[in-house]
Amino acid sequence: MFRIAHLSDIHLGPLPELSYRELASKRITGYINWQRNRKRAMFGDTLLQLVADMRQNRPDHVTVTGDLVNLATKTEVDGARLWLQDLGKPDWISVVPGNHDAYVPGALNRACREWNPYMVGDEGLEFDDRRFPYMRVRGPVAIIGTSSAEATVPFFATGSFKRRQALRTAQLLRQAHGLGLFRIVLIHHPPISGAAAWSKRLVGKQFFSRVISDAGAELVLHGHTHLDTLYWLNGHGGTRVPVCGVPSASQSAGHEKPAARYNLFDIDGGPGEWSLVQRERGLTPDGSRIDWIRERKLLANGTAVATGPTVDLPPARRSEDRPQEP
Ligand SMILES: [Fe+2]
Ligand SMILES: [Fe+2]
Repeated sequence: MFRIAHLSDIHLGPLPELSYRELASKRITGYINWQRNRKRAMFGDTLLQLVADMRQNRPDHVTVTGDLVNLATKTEVDGARLWLQDLGKPDWISVVPGNHDAYVPGALNRACREWNPYMVGDEGLEFDDRRFPYMRVRGPVAIIGTSSAEATVPFFATGSFKRRQALRTAQLLRQAHGLGLFRIVLIHHPPISGAAAWSKRLVGKQFFSRVISDAGAELVLHGHTHLDTLYWLNGHGGTRVPVCGVPSASQSAGHEKPAARYNLFDIDGGPGEWSLVQRERGLTPDGSRIDWIRERKLLANGTAVATGPTVDLPPARRSEDRPQEP
């Protein structure tokens, strides 16, 4: 059995002091947003608790699907590098960036430089933001990291997945299939119509879904919406591919979005007969403890079968049927 952990939307706080010049750029809208909505929710030791709990469950590999920071200032990007170094060794952790990591032009390149060892393929090639997609092979698993992160105009949080990445991602998926590996694709934005508000959507999701249906994959992991979602894409040869979103790893309890959570994926079997079990673990809705939230087996025919205890989450926080804005 090979165990993958999935964390996302770290939004490391606290927000550093900004210079006047930084405030004069697009960051001012993000700063206001942070002050109003996120500051209270994202402070505290929730993230520390979650990471400590994740370690106890001994994942073989950890994936982080973006939004490590808030406004992508130099101080935040440096802070996120230190957080990653504290989390673990680069060969144990695979990262892809989110829209907040590319908040203003130039920010993504800085993030790529600072977080480089965590976002580079096994062949070690680096091309700044053209490094994506990269591929890493760990045990029976191929991890393919793509980037949807880009700087946007104020009040937009869109991402994009274009032709160049699509072609290369398909190549890597075919290569991994030839090696008999279980293929996991990482992307920050959900590659699903209607999964995020229009101003926060993935542009080019048709390229993404085409890649998955042409080349196949076994699992897609994303963040961005801060919600616990499960969608399905058509895979190769009539299979269905689960697309799993995870809430923010830093979210305290008692807010509109689900409290901090991470997912564990237990992978067993081999080509043509993979077994995939998703275990969700996180803060209970009352914030009193970290516990199992839900366990289910994800089948390649597009069904999810409950396999363990499910915490009775209030309807407003069960988001699979009702996508909300990030
Ligand atoms: Fe986020
Ligand atoms: Fe995001």
